[in-house]
Amino acid sequence: MQWQRIATSRDLAAGGVLGVEIGDLEIVLWRSSSGELRACDARCPHQWAHLGAVGAVDGEELVCLSHFWRFDSSGAGSKLAMNGRRDEKSPITTHPVRERDGGIEILIAGED
Ligand code: FES
Repeated sequence: MQWQRIATSRDLAAGGVLGVEIGDLEIVLWRSSSGELRACDARCPHQWAHLGAVGAVDGEELVCLSHFWRFDSSGAGSKLAMNGRRDEKSPITTHPVRERDGGIEILIAGED
């Protein structure tokens, strides 16, 4: 495994979402409202919507706008009910990500 540079830090402001491809892998980068950088699989585990197209940041979570499942920084999935109840949903796979020298780098398991 080694870190791969996949974007520049300028590509992703706080609250931003960016879809990237690494070979056959579809990844989405997102930056929370507080500026934390995150990376996860791009396909929503519910009905496979591409989060690079229908993902939106809400505070410290990434929300799939297709049916409003949301994912936190650990990948845990949930959905907020109208009454404020939070129901657990399937998680999404996350990937280690970091910033170095103005670039965004990702570590993909199984990649050399
Ligand atoms: S496809 Fe993402 S919540 Fe349904």
